[in-house]
Amino acid sequence: MNSNKKTAPVGVFDSGVGGLTVTREIMRQLPNENMVYFGDTARVPYGSKSKDNIIRYSRQIIRFLRTKDVKAIVIACNTASALALDVVKEETDIPIMGVIVPGAAAAVRVTKNKKIGVIGTEATIRSHMYSKVMKEMLPGVEVIGKPCPLFVPIVEEGFAKHKIAEEVIDYYLASMKESDIDTMILGCTHYPLLRSRIMKYLGDGIQLVNPAYETAMELKKLLQEKDLLNEGGGQEGEDGQACANGSYEFYVSDTADKFKQFANSILPYDIRTTQRINIEEY
Ligand code: DGL
Repeated sequence: MNSNKKTAPVGVFDSGVGGLTVTREIMRQLPNENMVYFGDTARVPYGSKSKDNIIRYSRQIIRFLRTKDVKAIVIACNTASALALDVVKEETDIPIMGVIVPGAAAAVRVTKNKKIGVIGTEATIRSHMYSKVMKEMLPGVEVIGKPCPLFVPIVEEGFAKHKIAEEVIDYYLASMKESDIDTMILGCTHYPLLRSRIMKYLGDGIQLVNPAYETAMELKKLLQEKDLLNEGGGQEGEDGQACANGSYEFYVSDTADKFKQFANSILPYDIRTTQRINIEEY
């Protein structure tokens, strides 16, 4: 572990670019934190994979992030949060959190009629994790889940603003629009990149919840509780760069160029270095 735990980076991972929506929020709310991001671009999508594989991938990524001396880990992927968090948490001696509990907490606060929709990957929806968590938080809540697997390639391939996205949104979300939900969770970290289109399609009657905001708030609480919050300026990582106060390093398991371009289009700061690594070695 880093000699000064507070300045050690936070590890963040996802199957690809989706977790950058969470990273962006952590950068905004916790500008002093250093971060190491891993996007598993060689193995995206996770949403159609089995639980065994998602656990195996998550373990490998956690082993990789630990080589960077991270002080805590955020699983910025709903699929891995739903299928692997409980298992890897038991095996990891640093704080580790996912996006589902923060997202669920935000949704139960927002709903007035106790009818909540959740969209996510096949694996996330099949796990019923959002439903389980929200039923504990708000007894009597009704939850309607809908897998939207094509949203991930649309985002990964840069088609979020293309009219093709509109047709797919209509295909998946017509039933949500006709239902009487008043709140809908964007239960995949790729989906906030389609947020404005989804919002326009569903209209004012349905509030959208992006778990990224609450996840960053929960991370802050977790770091405070463990006395790990970086209150001072960040430190420059080996390949990192100073941005705001924090320094950020990005790693991927496939070609770095596309990822870098994408990251630069959604993050508040330009990322200079993205490195490809062989995750199967971990
Ligand atoms: N962005 C991830 C999630 O939140 C995974 C999407 C995928 O790889 O299928 O579920």
